[in-house]
Amino acid sequence: MSRNFKFLVCCSLAAVALAIAAASYLPALQAPVESAIFPVGKPLQIQSPLGLPPVPIPADNPLTAETIALGRRLYYDPQLSIDSTISCASCHAPQFAFSDNRPFSRGVRGQLGTRKAPTVINSAFSPLQFWDGRAPSLEEQAKGPMANPVEMAHSLEGVVRRLQADPIYPQLFKAAWGTDQITIDMVVKSIASFERTIIAGDSPFDRFYYGHDSKALSPGAQRGLKIFVSKNKGNCEVCHTIGRDFALFTDGKFHNLGIGADTRGNLSDLGRFTVTKVEQDKGCFKTPSLRNLANRGPYMHDGTFRTVKDAFAHYIGGGNWNPYLDKEIHSLDTLTFEERDDLLEFLDSLNGQLPKNIGPPPDLAPSATTASTGR
Ligand code: HEC
Ligand code: HEC
Repeated sequence: MSRNFKFLVCCSLAAVALAIAAASYLPALQAPVESAIFPVGKPLQIQSPLGLPPVPIPADNPLTAETIALGRRLYYDPQLSIDSTISCASCHAPQFAFSDNRPFSRGVRGQLGTRKAPTVINSAFSPLQFWDGRAPSLEEQAKGPMANPVEMAHSLEGVVRRLQADPIYPQLFKAAWGTDQITIDMVVKSIASFERTIIAGDSPFDRFYYGHDSKALSPGAQRGLKIFVSKNKGNCEVCHTIGRDFALFTDGKFHNLGIGADTRGNLSDLGRFTVTKVEQDKGCFKTPSLRNLANRGPYMHDGTFRTVKDAFAHYIGGGNWNPYLDKEIHSLDTLTFEERDDLLEFLDSLNGQLPKNIGPPPDLAPSATTASTGR
């Protein structure tokens, strides 16, 4: 081997090692740089509300006013579905905190899914999307429903063809992406950029905890906060995390609470296991944030609990036994009734304001509403 060649091999090995190190260090959201298409507008900074970290923005999809406006339109447009009846908002509706009020959403031709539609609020902060974490980014996630046979039942090519033939869209894509030749990457990147604006913080809890306004929380909610974080009381914070500078109320990890387990511990949905094939992941689902719980019931991945109080009762009972039940889940029946009320009052203090300009664009409002109430 010549010295030069050795040197080259060394360098490239070092480069590979560096690249691997960098890739594993980067948050998952920023990992897939899937195409070179780049918005043409001026990148926008969005200010995160009190209690939230900066919104993670992938390097290849900076936010611009044009991509956000286009994404907002696409989100509310039933044309994305094969028979033009279902939009993203049919299952993630603003009136239900960008979620659904049914345990299982209905897709085209009234077909039922098998999991509850999670809220889109603050999904921008989630390193992995879906209850089982099978999508690494909002961009990848958005492809799922369009092609899913029980949701929008379209094909990605079909969506592109439909938008290309529309009288309005080509010029909107041109303004956002610099070309009117639409691709699916532009579609999903625009939708993801809109979703990154659907964030809610600055709740009474945030004003108390991070804003140091001692009057922002009622005495009951303040006691509830202590129970929420205390290891030997509620023990909720181990999974629904509160950080020093911000609180996502989720560890972004997957746990088994026994939701959907029968009396013999058989699980109806294997959750994270379907992605990883790791035994311990059986029946594990992504910890949802507890922000803005109001109006987005029923709760859990199968929508089994109608109210937050019902969901809390599951914890008081110690979860449903099954071989994979998380070790942090144990009966809470030592909590007094007053402590239980305090904890619920605390959960109520996590409802924050959503930004304006995230509802349907005026000309799409009627069809978006029809779709979400047509059940
Ligand atoms: C027919 C109902 C339906 C439609 C239409 C639909 N979704 Fe969903 N969405 C769901 C369900 C159900 C899940 C959870 C599925 C799972 O975890 O396996 C989900 C999951 C998600 C998530 C993941 C959230 C999280 O916390 O993991 C996002 C983001 C999302 N959808 C956005 C969209 C967008 C954008 C569209 C339109 C392109 C859309 N959805 C269309 C029902 C729907
Ligand atoms: C071991 C981790 C863990 C602990 C501890 C924990 N949770 Fe959860 N929480 C989860 C996971 C995971 C889910 C979703 C489970 C599913 O759908 O199968 C969840 C779901 C919820 C939901 C429903 C949210 C929604 O969007 O559907 C509420 C409400 C909730 N938890 C409140 C609490 C409270 C209150 C405590 C403390 C008493 C607590 N959690 C303790 C992990 C945890």
